[in-house]
Amino acid sequence: MIEKINQLKAEILALNPTTAEEVENIRINFLSKKGKLTEIFNDFRNVSSEDKKTIGKEINTIKSELQTKLENWKTDLQSTKSSSANDLDLTQQEIDMSFGSRHPVSLIKNELCEIFTRLGFTIEEGPEIEDDWHVFAALNFPDEHPARDMQDTFFIEKHPDVLLRTHTSSIQVRCMEKKQLPIRVICPGRVFRNEAISARAHCIFHQIEGLYIDKNVSFADLQQTLLHFARETFGNDTKIRLRPSYFPFTEPSAEMDISCKLCGGKGCNICKHTGWLEVLGCGMVDPNVLEINGIDSKVYSGYAFGLGLERIAMLKYSVSDLRLYFENDVRFLNQFKNY
Ligand code: DAH
Repeated sequence: MIEKINQLKAEILALNPTTAEEVENIRINFLSKKGKLTEIFNDFRNVSSEDKKTIGKEINTIKSELQTKLENWKTDLQSTKSSSANDLDLTQQEIDMSFGSRHPVSLIKNELCEIFTRLGFTIEEGPEIEDDWHVFAALNFPDEHPARDMQDTFFIEKHPDVLLRTHTSSIQVRCMEKKQLPIRVICPGRVFRNEAISARAHCIFHQIEGLYIDKNVSFADLQQTLLHFARETFGNDTKIRLRPSYFPFTEPSAEMDISCKLCGGKGCNICKHTGWLEVLGCGMVDPNVLEINGIDSKVYSGYAFGLGLERIAMLKYSVSDLRLYFENDVRFLNQFKNY
């Protein structure tokens, strides 16, 4: 019996399987019903009772060691199989790890935020779902103003007072409510209008609103700030012009044009042969708006401006169709990788 055990031990020690099939054969050879180790377990019955303890221990150890070896061989062979040189495809193309690009509207938003924060403006945001007060009433819109019409504004059906903001000017009101003067903020955000979608209009777009309220703020301050913005965004040789306009919340109001980048002001298709491109609306905060929002208009004055980010991006990157911003076609987006 002892001799048989020693022989078996030597045999197991010499085993060195190289395939999964060999491992399985070893298992059958030693551990199956007619296997060599099973045979020894059968012989165990005839061992004298004083030897039973030591021999029993010995063969149990051999069995568990062999089982561990079988497991190890199996896993070793599996891992060498998957990393074996035969499986390497040296012609395989490198996996494309290139990253996506920022959306042009985000690029412009970040750029403008940087320009204005360098001038001391802080960034404020507000809710997209608003009420009549913040979007219209507190900005001096008369009751019968067409913007309040369902044709222009998305209202929430069950709540005639709840609507999707049509401009980021609503954030002005939220800033004034806080009453921490002076206020010098820019407010980026998404806005919604009930418009038919076309190359030149969309029901969703993005704006940045600017507001500065302090003592002695003048129209000249507004003009200089906007000139700085135009030159930083479109290049140092950019000219601006302010045309009189009307907004309920500013008085006087103006619209700002920049000299056409494409023709340098001579006139081309893009600027419709005027040499100028419309960029934003602006003006001095109407004293009514200051008073409605609890700010003394005899002590404080302010300017405001609002611009469309898609419009700026269109001018800067020569994009001709507004819908491209919302379709997210990678062929369009990939063109902004280097900005
Ligand atoms: N809220 C205006 C719009 O959506 C843009 C605007 C014009 C904002 C003049 C202003 C401003 O702050 O002074 O069309």
